[in-house]
Amino acid sequence: MVKALNGVNLTVRRGEVLGLVGESGAGKTVTALSVLRLLPYPGKVVAGGVFYDGQDLLSLSEERMRQVRGRELAVVFQDAMAALTPTLTLGEQMEESLLVHSSTSRKQARAVAEELCREIGLPDPHNILGLYPFQISGGMAQRVALAMALALRPRLLIADEPTSNVDVTLQADILDRLRRLQHQQDASILLITHNMGVVAQVAQRVAVMYAGAIVEQGDTVSIFRRPSHPYTWGLFQALPRLDNPDVALRPMPGVPPDLMNLPDRCPFLPRCAKATTTCRTSPKPPLGQVEAGHWAACYNPVQHD
Ligand SMILES: Nc1ncnc2c1ncn2[C@@H]1O[C@H](COP(=O)(O)OP(=O)(O)OP(=O)(O)O)[C@@H](O)[C@H]1O
Ligand SMILES: [Mg+2]
Repeated sequence: MVKALNGVNLTVRRGEVLGLVGESGAGKTVTALSVLRLLPYPGKVVAGGVFYDGQDLLSLSEERMRQVRGRELAVVFQDAMAALTPTLTLGEQMEESLLVHSSTSRKQARAVAEELCREIGLPDPHNILGLYPFQISGGMAQRVALAMALALRPRLLIADEPTSNVDVTLQADILDRLRRLQHQQDASILLITHNMGVVAQVAQRVAVMYAGAIVEQGDTVSIFRRPSHPYTWGLFQALPRLDNPDVALRPMPGVPPDLMNLPDRCPFLPRCAKATTTCRTSPKPPLGQVEAGHWAACYNPVQHD
């Protein structure tokens, strides 16, 4: 058994963007799928809860969960092209989701779809909605997938790497659209990304994942100014800086632990330059407060003056 997640504790508040960051394999996508109850078999959530508006999503019937997923939660996945149905035109699939989840007529649905296309920067919607997925580029697929996710005016959008496979112009467009969703509809967004620049631009708070656990969480400004977990600190050391281009990049040595064989100790211990005797002899550290609105799961957090 692989324990892909072990100790994920995070909150997305109303109207806020929470950035979820961490290296490849940390468990970001598994977190998103668990929240949405879309984990593919034989994956399952064996403990814990997922609370939306005070209600545990894990206890809902499949039928009720489908309604919540359509009406209140929306998701955009890493690979937008794979999320589109190859045998339906873009218009057909956009209309379909509007018809299933809201009381709209087919004619209205088409009008809404066209409006959304314009909003998301797809020119000539009439033409585009008649195309099949194989006829469009990856960037366009990403725009269509986002338009579909926004069509139902979700209360919470989970966006899994929505900008990782697109050029910078489209990245700026997508981030702009996410900001508008947040501000105009007071929606919440769980934004999963590798990109610290993206986080700095749109997230009010950040959660950092390592080996299936949240190791640091807090206000974006506090985390960027005073990263406390040595893993987060290491992530920043490995990033190029425009304000100080002469500083050599320091890659983090080592690899993440084997999830089939997770140690009882801190998962970052073998890679940590700051490890103490306490770290080597104590159980996995819990999240502890390092300053107001900022927590780290570490016995020896990085100190900042
Ligand atoms: N069905 C499965 N069976 C076994 N291991 C799995 C399964 N699904 C996910 N994993 C493992 O769980 C871990 C977390 O995977 P996940 O896809 O959530 O990572 P991620 O943080 O989204 O990475 P990336 O940034 O590359 O998208 C990985 O080590 C992955 O190999
Ligand atoms: Mg992923």
